[in-house]
Amino acid sequence: MSTSLLQIDTDAGIRTLRINRPDKLNALNAATLDALDAAFADAETDAAVRVVVLTGAGPKAFVAGADIAEMNALTPVEGRDFSLRGTRMMRRVEKLSKPVIAMVNGFALGGGLELAMCCHLRVAADSAKVGQPEINLGLIPGFGGSQRLLRLCGRAATLELCLTGAPITAERALQLGIVNRVVPAAELEAETMKLAAQLANAAPLALRGMLDCVNVGGECGIEEGLEYESAQFGLMFATEDMREGTAAFLEKRKPAFTGK
Ligand code: COA
Repeated sequence: MSTSLLQIDTDAGIRTLRINRPDKLNALNAATLDALDAAFADAETDAAVRVVVLTGAGPKAFVAGADIAEMNALTPVEGRDFSLRGTRMMRRVEKLSKPVIAMVNGFALGGGLELAMCCHLRVAADSAKVGQPEINLGLIPGFGGSQRLLRLCGRAATLELCLTGAPITAERALQLGIVNRVVPAAELEAETMKLAAQLANAAPLALRGMLDCVNVGGECGIEEGLEYESAQFGLMFATEDMREGTAAFLEKRKPAFTGK
């Protein structure tokens, strides 16, 4: 089901989505936002998918931002709609019940960093650069950048990135907690796929419960968060995978999780 804007492959439970506008550094126009929205909706319901890897085509960019050419002519109402279109898609990614890994293969700027931040994990090439350069266009982030960056790495780094617009290296992004891992560019694909394979073999309902705990707990007080975790923990005892995982440990063998 690949489209010209998005290459889609599935192998051993890993669905790879590759944004495919390399001549425009994979900039997010409305059609690409819609293609991503449809692809994530499909990944949610397709039982063959255990984990999603999101990346950009070509050697230079993950995504160099929202499409500036498309935005240039928008009216205020259209600008708001464009923002809502991206924000809704990214919220779908963030709330997906399966882990999503951003494989950051180059520039992740503006909407590119916003897209990477709504993924659950980020693995970056050491050559990657990330930033929120909207200020240089007389703009501010419009796909949740100010909010997710704030939650990921606090006020100081958020204000530095968004007020100056200057991109930072992958290594600095790692120090700030914006990305999880930085690997040599030549090893990015192999390292990301190794991580994806690990998650594809994990118990899907436990992964889902964990994603829910972080999504809910990130936005509520400690009492509600702990209560929610206990409820999710209890729910795990209804799964065959929990019986399998604990039995496999006791029998000193590898578990085979089925997602039931
Ligand atoms: N929207 C639309 N087109 C974009 C784009 C964007 N966000 N980012 C890059 N492109 C296009 C360029 O216009 C160029 O197209 P062209 O060949 O038809 O002129 C092509 O992609 C290659 O980009 P170019 O600028 O020539 O590459 P570079 O290596 O010199 O610079 C960047 C790379 C990432 C530094 C530069 O492209 C850039 O600053 N992009 C915009 C980043 C940004 O502000 N993002 C936030 C948007 S809200």
